Amino acid sequence: MDTAVLTDNDAQRAVSDTTPVVPSTADPLWWRSAIIYQIYIRSFADGNGDGTGDLAGVRAHLAYLADLGVDALWFTPWYPSPLADGGYDVSDYRAIHPAFGDLGQAEVLIREALALGIRTIIDIVPNHISDQHEWFQAALAAGPGSPERERFWFRPGLGDNGDEMPNHWVSNFQGDTWTRTTNPDGTPGEWYLHLFTPEQPDLNWNHPDVRREHEEVLRFWFDRGVAGVRIDSAALLIKDPTLPEVPENPLPGEHPNTDRDEVHDVYRAWRAIADSYQGARVLVGEVWMPDAARFANYLRPDEMHTAFNFDFMARPWNAAELRESVDSMLAAHAPVDAPSTWVLSNHDVTRPVTRYGREDSSFAFATKRFNVPTDLELGERRARAAALLTAALPGSLYLYQGDELGLPEVEDIPRDLLQDPMHFRSGGVDPGRDGCRVPLPWSGSTTPFGFSPAGSTATPWLPQPASWAHLTVESQLLDPHSMLSLYRAALSIRRSHPALGDGSLTWIESEPNVLAFDRGMGFVCVTNLSDSAVALPTFTKLLLASSPLADGLLLPDSTAWLRTQH
Ligand code: GLC
Repeated sequence: MDTAVLTDNDAQRAVSDTTPVVPSTADPLWWRSAIIYQIYIRSFADGNGDGTGDLAGVRAHLAYLADLGVDALWFTPWYPSPLADGGYDVSDYRAIHPAFGDLGQAEVLIREALALGIRTIIDIVPNHISDQHEWFQAALAAGPGSPERERFWFRPGLGDNGDEMPNHWVSNFQGDTWTRTTNPDGTPGEWYLHLFTPEQPDLNWNHPDVRREHEEVLRFWFDRGVAGVRIDSAALLIKDPTLPEVPENPLPGEHPNTDRDEVHDVYRAWRAIADSYQGARVLVGEVWMPDAARFANYLRPDEMHTAFNFDFMARPWNAAELRESVDSMLAAHAPVDAPSTWVLSNHDVTRPVTRYGREDSSFAFATKRFNVPTDLELGERRARAAALLTAALPGSLYLYQGDELGLPEVEDIPRDLLQDPMHFRSGGVDPGRDGCRVPLPWSGSTTPFGFSPAGSTATPWLPQPASWAHLTVESQLLDPHSMLSLYRAALSIRRSHPALGDGSLTWIESEPNVLAFDRGMGFVCVTNLSDSAVALPTFTKLLLASSPLADGLLLPDSTAWLRTQH
C-alpha cells in the first residue's frame, strides 16, 4: 500500500496536506510493461446522478479496475472546459471541471487508486487552450500589438481589407485554421490560428510564458501524485514563425506546423522535471507520425518515455499487414531503447468490434462514414483475438474503457444529440467520435444500465442502445465466455507471467495468414487470421484462447496463448 485510503471528508484536508503523494518507487520501470486503462470521464460512471460521468463515479468503481488488473488509469482532460472538443479545450489547467468534481476529490482519487496499486496519468493539452481561458480573453481585450497577443498566433489578414486568412493551413478537424476577431469598436480585427476548432486557439511556444506555465502545471500535478502525463497533439506545438504555406511534399522537419525539430527541446525540459520526482513519473506522447524514425525521435532517453503506436490500430485485420506493423514498430523503438505501446482504440477512433467487422478493417479519420455494412459477430470474434494478440506483444498496453466489454461503436445516435466538432466541421459527412464515447453499461436491463445511481432520473449525456442490456459489467461477470471474462483472464496472466510485458519476441514460422511468436520462458502466442482452422505448435498447456479449440485446432479469427516446453 502506497498511502492510506482517504474518505470524502478528508478531501478538503488533502488539498492543504503537505505530505507528498509518491507513487511506489519499488519498480522504476513500471511503465515499460504497464497495462493502462483509459478513462473518458464523462462516460465512465456518474456518481451524482446528473447523467455525466464524474470522479465520484470512478472512485465507486476502483475495485472493478483493480479486479480487471490494470496498473494505471489515464484520464482524458478533467479540467474546467466549455467542452467544445470534449474537454480538449481547457480553460484552467489547475482545477477540475465542476461537473466532474473538484480538486480535493481528484487528490483523494489519486491516493485511493495508489492504495490499490493503480497509478494515475492525466492528459496535458499544450498545443492549444480554450478560447475562454483567461489568457485568450485578455489577448482579445488587449488588442493588436499587445503583449497578451504574443502568447498566441494573432496576425493581420491579407488583402486590401485584411479579409483574407494569413495562410491556408487545413485544420486537423477539416476546414480553416484561422478565425477573424472583431475589434471593440465593432470593426473586423486580426485573425488567430487554431489547428483544431476556433474554440481552441493555438499557443505560441516561442513565448517564455507558455513554456513556464506548462512546466508549472506539470509540477502542480506531479506534486499531487500523478504518475505521468499523456501529452496531447505532441508533435504540433512549434510553428514556423513566418507561417508559410505547407509545401506539397515537405521533407522531415520542414512542415511549418508539425514535427518541427525545436519541439524536442520542450520535451527535454519536461523530462528533466519528471526525473526530478520520485516514483518514475512518465511522459506519454500522442504522436501521429507515419515516419517511424521521426516518431522514435520523441522517445530518445532524455525525452518521452513512450508514445502511442497508432500504426497497428490503423492496419486491417490481415496477418502480413499486422506482422509488418509489429516488426517496423519494434525496429523503430529499438535504437532508442523505448518499449512499444499497443493500442487497439481510444476516444477518437472506431471501436474494434465494429472496425474489425467491416470489409475494410483499417482505420483512418478521412474515411469514417455513416452506414458502413458491419458484421458485429465477426468483429467481436476478431476483437477478442486482437485483445490477446496485443496483450502478448512486447511493451505496454492501452485499454480504452468499454473495449473490455466489447462495446460496439454506436452509430445511430440521433443527429441532434451529436456533439463532436469533427462531425460538424465535415459538413455532417464524418460521423464524428461520439459513437465510441457513449456512457458505459454497468448493470440492469434498461438504460442507464447502472451508469447513474439508482433512482436518478437524468438521462445519460449520450443515449445508450437498448441492446447493451447483455453487455453490462454485471451480466458479463456471470458469463465465463464474455469479453470481460476474457480480458480479466488475459490481464491476470499478463501480470503474473514473467515473459509478458517488456521484452522481445521471436516469430515462429507458420502457415500463411497465421501470426505465431515466442516470448521466451515457454510462452507462445498464435493468432489465426486465415479462413480455416490451423494446427497449433506442440504445447503443454492451453493458457487461454479467444475461442474454444475445435479438435485441437485453432479456429479462424482466434488467438491462443500456449505454454510450451522451452
Ligand atoms: C487529440 C485528442 C482528441 C482531440 C485533439 C485536439 O487528438 O485525442 O480527442 O480532439 O487532440 O486536442
